[in-house]
Amino acid sequence: MMGIGEIRLLIWVSSILYLAGFSLGFNPVDNYLINCGSPSNLSVGGRVFVADNSASQILSTPKNIFASTNSNSIDLPLYQTARILDGISQYTFPISKPGRHWIRLYFFPFVYTNYNMSMANFSVSAQDFVLLSNFQLQKDSMVKEYSVNITSNKLVLSFTPSDSSSFAFVNALEVVSVPDEIITDDAQTINPLGGYQGLWKQALETVFRVNMGGPTISPSNDTLGRTWVPDQDFLLNKNLAKSVSNIAAVTYVSGGPTPDIAPPSVYGTAVEMNSANVPNSNFNVTWNFDVNPGFQYLIRLHFCDIVSSSLNQLYFNVYINTWSVALNLDLSIQQINTLGAPYYMDFVTGLSDSSKLRVSIGPSITITSVSPNAILNGLEVMKMNNSRGSLDGVASITLISQPSSKKSVGVIVGVVLGVFIAVVLAVVLFLICRRRQMARHQHLKTWAPFSMNGGNSLSMGSKYSYGTTINTASNLGYRFPFAAMQDATNNFEESWVVGVGGFGKVYKGVLKDGTKVAVKRGNPQSQQGLAEFRTEIEMLSHFRHRHLVSLIGYCDERNEMILVYEYMENGTLKNHLYGSELPSLSWKERLDICIGSARGLHYLHTGSTKAIIHRDVKSANILLDENLMAKVADFGLSKTGPEIDQTHVSTAVKGSFGYLDPEYYRRQQLTEKSDVYSFGVVLFEVICARPVINPSLPREMVNLAEWAMKWQKIGQLENIIDPNLAGKIRPDSLRKFAETAEKCLADYGVDRPSMGDVLWNLEYALQLQEAVIQDDPEVNSTNQIGELSPLVNNADYVETSVTAAQLEMSSLDDLSAVSVSRVFSQLVKAEGR
Ligand SMILES: *[C@@H]1O[C@H](CO)[C@@H](O)[C@H](O)[C@H]1NC(C)=O
Ligand SMILES: *[C@@H]1O[C@H](CO)[C@@H](O)[C@H](O)[C@H]1NC(C)=O
Ligand SMILES: *[C@@H]1O[C@H](CO)[C@@H](O)[C@H](O)[C@H]1NC(C)=O
Ligand SMILES: *[C@@H]1O[C@H](CO)[C@@H](O)[C@H](O)[C@H]1NC(C)=O
Ligand SMILES: *[C@@H]1O[C@H](CO)[C@@H](O)[C@H](O)[C@H]1NC(C)=O
Ligand SMILES: *[C@@H]1O[C@H](CO)[C@@H](O)[C@H](O)[C@H]1NC(C)=O
Ligand SMILES: *[C@@H]1O[C@H](CO)[C@@H](O)[C@H](O)[C@H]1NC(C)=O
Repeated sequence: MMGIGEIRLLIWVSSILYLAGFSLGFNPVDNYLINCGSPSNLSVGGRVFVADNSASQILSTPKNIFASTNSNSIDLPLYQTARILDGISQYTFPISKPGRHWIRLYFFPFVYTNYNMSMANFSVSAQDFVLLSNFQLQKDSMVKEYSVNITSNKLVLSFTPSDSSSFAFVNALEVVSVPDEIITDDAQTINPLGGYQGLWKQALETVFRVNMGGPTISPSNDTLGRTWVPDQDFLLNKNLAKSVSNIAAVTYVSGGPTPDIAPPSVYGTAVEMNSANVPNSNFNVTWNFDVNPGFQYLIRLHFCDIVSSSLNQLYFNVYINTWSVALNLDLSIQQINTLGAPYYMDFVTGLSDSSKLRVSIGPSITITSVSPNAILNGLEVMKMNNSRGSLDGVASITLISQPSSKKSVGVIVGVVLGVFIAVVLAVVLFLICRRRQMARHQHLKTWAPFSMNGGNSLSMGSKYSYGTTINTASNLGYRFPFAAMQDATNNFEESWVVGVGGFGKVYKGVLKDGTKVAVKRGNPQSQQGLAEFRTEIEMLSHFRHRHLVSLIGYCDERNEMILVYEYMENGTLKNHLYGSELPSLSWKERLDICIGSARGLHYLHTGSTKAIIHRDVKSANILLDENLMAKVADFGLSKTGPEIDQTHVSTAVKGSFGYLDPEYYRRQQLTEKSDVYSFGVVLFEVICARPVINPSLPREMVNLAEWAMKWQKIGQLENIIDPNLAGKIRPDSLRKFAETAEKCLADYGVDRPSMGDVLWNLEYALQLQEAVIQDDPEVNSTNQIGELSPLVNNADYVETSVTAAQLEMSSLDDLSAVSVSRVFSQLVKAEGR
């Protein structure tokens, strides 16, 4: 088995070789190209489609009919022959390596003896998926491209005529391995923005694959034999768009998309805003696509900044239909600050109810720049199979696999049979669901929820030496002059302070271009060393994730230690839970926030070869952006993160009182499981909406973790949940959530789940709330928790003093001894400061 590092190295080496002109390409393990109905091999763009007779042992069909035409109006020689499949026919392809495979079907109808292929009417299925249902093609050629994760050692491709008078045909077909990295398991949902898992089990049909601003890319110019078409026909308003090409600017970087994701000819051309035609530069460039309603779509957006002359010049927004899916997107920070580094994002739409899909790009509204612009380099739209496993129509495979040949059978018999089948199906479905539920739990163990795109997770190779020197400036955030910092914060105006921490003060600021930022100014007298300041800059520059607050820049002029972060419009999660006038968050919003922060922490724990331990997970360190999307702040260094926390935190505290892992101070050993513990406390805080330590409450209620666990252990957590949530949480969702929190608080780290498990369970809790899990009798009963009479509310304050034991705990916090193997040792504060 190869380690991640080696794989990355390989990718890196192959991209270097690629750039040097040795196009290695991808060498598919399974590679069946068949020139159906033809006795001879045919080379098309360097790929050999083999003669059908040599492949015939893989086909079972009632009659062997080889059709051919010598019409010379046919553009592709592949189309001059076809297999007529008169009766149910099956191609069986041995699969040497399970995983995703392309299935490409080539059709061109012509007339052969008494077979008029324009009249053919048939269905095609592969594995358990319906690819085509009652398909008919009158004229013109068509290539259908699918990708299916084949899970067994063979692929059966079935052609089933729609009725006894009909037949099927095919001119050529391909079954070819797809590299694993092409379709990863997860993506983002767009409304609301959130995580999506489970792409591995989706059959996908490529409905559009577009090369923005460039020409058609034919299969021979693409390492995976794909076709990319120009975008002109899809543009809503051609005047607003301008094509640009700069293929030389494309720089594939290690850990980022490879040429297999999309070739340089796709990343090297783009459509940008045509501001010359439209002086008022606030407009969108929009493409429209026709889609089938009733399906979900996977949309992959390809970006590569080939238009900017330097980093951080281009900020733009991306919309799918009316939803904004990326705001103020800055491509230069997505891939180790390399201009011209390819980048892509995957989004899964909801069930479309419209037959139009719209993708738009427009300039950032909040970040103004000298020449506002927006770009898009490529776009793929892939249809996802529906809940019946079909990509075409509503019939499931069981319904199409038998052609309706017995038309004479009476209607009544049909109805009776139908009812019988429905009953049997219901029973079978119920059993399948049961099994699937169990399977889902097993799946959990191997599931690796990763970032929205293959290229987002950066490796921390040994090439970076943290805590020593700042590497070349190009690798890091933007370096601000001190004057710019003074301007941004109104000369560090006291009234602009939004938080105070051990490190210094955090100010709200506005950059010249209007960007809102959070400016953290290190106190020169603070215990915060210069080395840690540098470490944090390097850390934050290299760990970028949607759910981690990101660093915009820094300032080290005049011995200052200033860090500039993105401004999080909605402040801390804590503020939204209690102690403020803010409106109460809904259960779904709370779940989304928990899922987002779990994702950020999971990335810290697993995103590099060495786990990064946050050490100060708490609701005050989970920040919310304008869309209430959660981002974890203050990571890696509990003492240097943006302390946007109103409560005073003693400089000696490492980790926060009320969230501390008991095992951490018992054994003085720090692992990721300490973060899991603290996160469990946050989960209880989210559902109970009260401070984790409230000394004014009766003694047994002071500590939220203890109090909540007491109720959870007797299965009555609902008695102490936030009254605002009463009656609004589905019991299953509450149960799953509470169980997850309980497991996080296990006494021993080994008994606690990993952050990945926590993430999965929270997503499951969200699904249970939304009841998207179909045919689950338990969930479909929609009885909700009735009105509750909460035992705890703010009126219940009782004066009590904190016990001595509890006070002592705060002095135990400052523990620096750690398990070296699990911690990135440079991050750990030096002893004795
Ligand atoms: C077609 O190519 C395959 C392998 O590429 C070869 O085994 C076969 O003999 C060829 N058939 C003909 C008719 O040339
Ligand atoms: C084949 O069928 C198509 C569509 O039904 C029809 O338009 C065409 O005339 C037919 N061709 C012949 C030769 O029968
Ligand atoms: C194909 O056959 C099916 C089943 O007989 C029928 O319902 C459908 O209308 C046919 N499709 C076309 C386009 O004629
Ligand atoms: C294909 O499915 C298997 C499970 O059968 C899964 O482990 C694997 O990751 C999937 N592969 C891809 C490329 O989605
Ligand atoms: C495709 O490849 C051919 C040579 O194989 C080359 O001449 C052509 O310019 C390439 N087209 C693109 C768009 O890269
Ligand atoms: C761009 O499109 C989005 C989504 O439809 C819309 O909300 C926004 O107002 C548009 N911007 C402009 C300048 O038209
Ligand atoms: C697609 O099919 C798979 C396997 O049958 C199923 O698990 C998945 O939920 C289906 N997709 C959708 C969007 O329903």
